[in-house]
Amino acid sequence: MPSSGSALACDASHAPALRDFRDCLAQMGYSPSGLVSLLGLKQEGRLYPLEYRELPRYASILEQTATPLASMAQLLALGIPVDRAAAERGLGPRNLGLLDELGLCSVDGETVHANFSLLPFGDLMIATDRIFPNVDGNRRDASLSSDNLVWRLDQTSWIMARHLIRQPAREALDLGCGSGLQALLMSGWADNVTGVDINPRAVGLANFNARLNGIGNVQFFGGDLFQPVNGRRFGQIVSNPPSAPGLVRAWNREGGATGREVVESIIDGLGSHLETGGIFQSTLHLGYRKEDDIAKWLEARLPRDEYRCLVLKHRSEEEADDYCLREAYQKAGPRDYEIFRRTFGTYRDNLGRAGIERIAFGVVAARRAAGGGPPEIRTDDLQVGKSPDWLKVLIS
Ligand SMILES: C[S@@+](CC[C@H](N)C(=O)[O-])C[C@H]1O[C@@H](n2cnc3c(N)ncnc32)[C@H](O)[C@@H]1O
Repeated sequence: MPSSGSALACDASHAPALRDFRDCLAQMGYSPSGLVSLLGLKQEGRLYPLEYRELPRYASILEQTATPLASMAQLLALGIPVDRAAAERGLGPRNLGLLDELGLCSVDGETVHANFSLLPFGDLMIATDRIFPNVDGNRRDASLSSDNLVWRLDQTSWIMARHLIRQPAREALDLGCGSGLQALLMSGWADNVTGVDINPRAVGLANFNARLNGIGNVQFFGGDLFQPVNGRRFGQIVSNPPSAPGLVRAWNREGGATGREVVESIIDGLGSHLETGGIFQSTLHLGYRKEDDIAKWLEARLPRDEYRCLVLKHRSEEEADDYCLREAYQKAGPRDYEIFRRTFGTYRDNLGRAGIERIAFGVVAARRAAGGGPPEIRTDDLQVGKSPDWLKVLIS
């Protein structure tokens, strides 16, 4: 279990002040399109995540711009401290006091530091752990580790969010909710939404985000996948789970040796938790030798007489060796060749044992409906964020 560490806390009494804060950000243009044009990004998806290697460029754009929006982007998106006077000019003293009181930022003399990141997503504001934890000298929270960091919004979050099927449901469920993004989006079309995460800090931040956005029909629980919702059924179940093939089972990103461990547990729980007619969607890394493997893997878990399945496979896929090299380089990097070589070998053995030759990122959707038919696999450019007509395909 991840350790609890510190997270943002607030209660119902903060609601009016949080609304004022949100309005203030909206008025200054702290929105996806506002940040995209301010930072000179090519498209909205580039916000999730902002890239560390681009950071000096973003920082110099913001220094030269020197508007309230630029100061807030520097502080809340990048986590680079700003002068207190600039923060007060942007937010007003009351909002700055609120952020200090809640712990989102800390006012330290004439400088304001960010303790979390805050990014706009559609009409929502989403707080996560800092996107760049090392940009503020040695101000690091010692209780944080890779084990309890709350997932920053990244490409997988964005892809899942852009592909959510907006079908009204009485109850919807987000498994591995992290900051609560998918759950908060689903609150727009489901009567009641439940989010579950194994990381208690994620549950704390998701609750904060619900309050920050004035959303009342969402509850978040700590626990392992379906355990906190035992005995309940849902019309929509969504997950952006850890699914990268890795050496360990890590809470945020890696889903075991083949990456499928968590997704398989989720799929295995659908029988007891997805209503007839209900929809399941998940992102996942699709490791395969030939496309038939994906279909067989799905059909073994979601029988065609009970489910109609559709897979969108990202057009850009990797050879297993390239994937293993990239991952091993990130873990062992240039520091130690011996570890780099061994890590690569371990990744390759894992994928070899599972018969995986290629890896593509994908989104799987299934509707629980009698007489479904074989899984359909389509190749798509997921990053463009087109919204494919999932629903039509799934109900036709
Ligand atoms: C890739 S992050 C996605 C976060 C968020 N849903 C999003 O789209 O940005 C995966 C999340 O799954 C959570 N998680 C991993 N294993 C879990 C489990 N067994 N039960 C519940 N949550 C889990 C992690 O703590 C993490 O917050």
